[in-house]
Amino acid sequence: MLYQVYPRSFLDTDGDGVGDLAGVRAKLPYLRWLGVDGVWLSPIYRSPMADFGYDVSDHCAIDPVFGDLPGFDRLLADAHAIGLRLLLDWVPNHTSDRHPWFVESRSSRDSPKRDWYFWRDGHDDGPPNNWRAAFGGQAWTWDESTRQWYLHLFLSQQPDLRWSEPDVVDAMHGVLRFWLDRGVDGFRADVVHLISKDEELPDQPPELADIDLVGVHDHPGAHPLLRNLRAVLDAYPGDRVMVGEVNLGSAARLAPYYGAGDELHMVFNFSLLWAPWDAAHWAGRIAESEAALAPSGAWPVWVLSNHDTPRHRTRYGSEARARVAATVLLTLRGTPFLYAGEELGLADAEVPDGVRVDPGGRDGCRAPFPWDDQAGHGWAGEPWLPWPPDPAVRNAGALAGDRRSILHLYRRLLACRRRSAALHSGTWERLDAPDGVLAYERRAGADVRRIWANFGDEAVAGDAGGDWVVEVAGSGRGEGDPWDGRLAATEALVVRPVG
Ligand code: GLC
Repeated sequence: MLYQVYPRSFLDTDGDGVGDLAGVRAKLPYLRWLGVDGVWLSPIYRSPMADFGYDVSDHCAIDPVFGDLPGFDRLLADAHAIGLRLLLDWVPNHTSDRHPWFVESRSSRDSPKRDWYFWRDGHDDGPPNNWRAAFGGQAWTWDESTRQWYLHLFLSQQPDLRWSEPDVVDAMHGVLRFWLDRGVDGFRADVVHLISKDEELPDQPPELADIDLVGVHDHPGAHPLLRNLRAVLDAYPGDRVMVGEVNLGSAARLAPYYGAGDELHMVFNFSLLWAPWDAAHWAGRIAESEAALAPSGAWPVWVLSNHDTPRHRTRYGSEARARVAATVLLTLRGTPFLYAGEELGLADAEVPDGVRVDPGGRDGCRAPFPWDDQAGHGWAGEPWLPWPPDPAVRNAGALAGDRRSILHLYRRLLACRRRSAALHSGTWERLDAPDGVLAYERRAGADVRRIWANFGDEAVAGDAGGDWVVEVAGSGRGEGDPWDGRLAATEALVVRPVG
């Protein structure tokens, strides 16, 4: 299980109100206690922070707000010393407009780095094509000094790199090597499906003309680039991994990004993150993923929350539902990613007008992580965003002291997953279940677990079909006891055969 830390929001140790690497380092023992195997850090590189670090101006330096390289090395060493892996966020599709590469590129039409980015003449006084940018507006910005347009699929401060330029490939491989040489265990590759583009930059068809490209762009040229990236990682000793963000929806469209086991090691599957609270819907998405990925041995990645989407506790509306969701997330076949704070059952913060800072409207899920019930909740300074709801009660210290808390449920689920071969590597098979219930079996040889998740608001009879013991209950009720075959309202159970 991997755990996403959004460093700005995890823990501030130097009093500037922004989380830092020393804060992550201080909390490694907590992550170990929880049962985390590895940490993905959202970007920590030098950045003007127009997109809070996803606009990188130096890929090989730590932004001073987070710390410095020696501090990073200390964090990495401490993580490794307690058996935690560390993945960095790698942002290959674009840089900051303040990156020296782009500064050079925009300096003149004859710049040796001009072709590192997409510079084009316009059409009839307008931009070169009809592409839309992810945070609104057109995907092109006019540069008055060289009198051409440049492409940006996100903010205008995030110009897109042109990966058909071999020097760009070399430079970005060099970035990976810089961090691999320091000992990182891999990368989460940001919107990596976008890196290849048709050099003709054709218009989007009229039916797609009003939406940005992120959810639809799927160019075959990405695959050779990904194979080359894989080769960079494979040249290193140990297990180095790349998990890609590919926002194409269905698992069938993600499967090609695994290649023949020679492209991305893993690809985020967001289909549950986008699914409504409905058992049949979830069953369908999971079955679809199994059908698309299992035959080729592609390893799924499940995620319910991240720094781009309202938290699932907020989307589903109650902690009881968040407990059911956690039970499913941590018992599916594949690697689950947790987003820091979901183990506390955090909801999004209310962020009033005037306090909002993110151009993509994502501040609520980026609220600071409350560590204890004191006034500053463990933070050295006043945080950059408001606290999530009820921090005096819903904080790591208080929940760690309450064995019935959602935090302890996550911990028990993770421990159960580690103990059971069926759960961490077994097959997945859907079971017949009453309406409103998602049920499946995990099996590895003789090791078997069944998961019964009641999404509904009424108690139901599951179908025990044999003698089962409750191993983990979302509500904590009856663990270790024989299962009576019933599910309370909004309750999920992990059961194992008696004996
Ligand atoms: C990814 C990141 C998001 C960022 C965008 C541009 O979707 O998760 O936070 O804004 O890429 O880099």
